[in-house]
Amino acid sequence: MGERIWTPQQRSAIDAAGGTLLVSAAAGSGKTAVLVQRVIEKLTSDDPEKYCDADRLLIVTFTRAAAAEMKERITAELQKKVEQDPWDTRMRRQMILVKKAPICTIDSFCSKLVRDNFYKLDIAPDFRIGDDSELKIIQEDCINDVLERNYAEGDDDFFELVEQLIGDRNDSELSDLIKQLDFYIGSFPFPEDIMTALENAYSAGDPTGTVWGQSVLEYVKKAAEYGLACNAIACDVSASDEKLTEKYLPSFERDAEILERIRTAAEGRQWDDLYRCSSEAEITPLGRATKLPYEADIAKAAREVVKDVMEEIRSAVVSDAEEFEKEISFTGRMVRKLMSLLREYYAAMVEAKARRRVLDFVDLEHMAVNLLVQRKEPLHEGTALSPSSDYLNAYCKTDTALALTQQYDEIMLDEYQDTNHQRGAEPDLLGGGAQS
Ligand SMILES: Nc1ncnc2c1ncn2[C@@H]1O[C@H](COP(=O)(O)OP(=O)(O)OP(=O)(O)O)[C@@H](O)[C@H]1O
Ligand SMILES: [Mg+2]
Repeated sequence: MGERIWTPQQRSAIDAAGGTLLVSAAAGSGKTAVLVQRVIEKLTSDDPEKYCDADRLLIVTFTRAAAAEMKERITAELQKKVEQDPWDTRMRRQMILVKKAPICTIDSFCSKLVRDNFYKLDIAPDFRIGDDSELKIIQEDCINDVLERNYAEGDDDFFELVEQLIGDRNDSELSDLIKQLDFYIGSFPFPEDIMTALENAYSAGDPTGTVWGQSVLEYVKKAAEYGLACNAIACDVSASDEKLTEKYLPSFERDAEILERIRTAAEGRQWDDLYRCSSEAEITPLGRATKLPYEADIAKAAREVVKDVMEEIRSAVVSDAEEFEKEISFTGRMVRKLMSLLREYYAAMVEAKARRRVLDFVDLEHMAVNLLVQRKEPLHEGTALSPSSDYLNAYCKTDTALALTQQYDEIMLDEYQDTNHQRGAEPDLLGGGAQS
């Protein structure tokens, strides 16, 4: 097989130096091939700026098979070099280093990190990864324990939650909900932050001060503006014809007044005004007429949209400020109860797994993240649900991460897809000192 010819884009991804590099390209377009080539060129380079020892590249692949294949390919390339020049001690050394070079999946990276640092995590050094069926049983047992305990000695909020969620149906729905929440919240690198943010998101107060009220205001304002734009079309078309001006225009103008009042209330953040205008929002009937010009159809079509918009607005603003506050405060109580059940469940899981010296992959990822970063400041009261993009502002590297960063010149990830929030965080948290 002859020397491969790389496209200019591939070449620049192979050669790029300094800083973070993200290669985004179509399936099968050669991303993995470029990554492997980049590694090989670094390991075999005569340029001291570019050269790198095999154990100073952290390479994370998608599957174990991919890691093994990558090692094989790198070894084969090194072997070729050694055959060309048997006295090349540097390449001979690379051959040895590559055997234990950190080319692995994200799971085995996390697993090794956790094992190396078990004493900082309060876990058994000889933990194992539980198999799916075993973990499922532990999960069921823990949920059942938590629910049983709460049925026996739970507070009013617990029974209210049960009532709200399942009425008198089977309570497997409550345990399913806990599982779903665990799955969702567990996909974030810092589940505790998400739970606290969820609890805080329902703080009582004037609707306009809550995230929910604000999103309603924003939505209604946009809807009213859209309705007004459609109404303007109906008005313009009607104004161009005498009969329509007489029969239709007055109704359209009243529609415009209604929408304008709604828009002003939403913009001025006057909740009760908004509620009043919205609940009264209804299109005004059109005057009866025959033999209308074809423009009448255009006007009526535009007005159908105005009608839908008003309906949407009515269904978005369903209560006055007092009622809204009551609802939010009730929902807040339910969410806090749900979070407290989830915390009880997590505590039970930690204990049950510790007894068996078992962990799962999600535990490993969370533990790895916790080993690598720490929060700069505690999460503030009233923080809204925050997406996971602010890690680098809210968190800083731990000493463990700083030490680890020193071990690597470059971190390379194949198949970097932040399909879960956790995966998205890990490279950020390791990068920085090393090139990632
Ligand atoms: N410049 C090139 N010349 C010849 N073959 C190439 C070139 N670039 C990539 N290939 C070949 O194309 C095939 C697909 O490449 P590769 O697996 O690296 O793509 P990928 O982008 O990683 O795919 P996926 O999206 O599935 O991960 C491989 O057989 C690879 O050897
Ligand atoms: Mg690939």
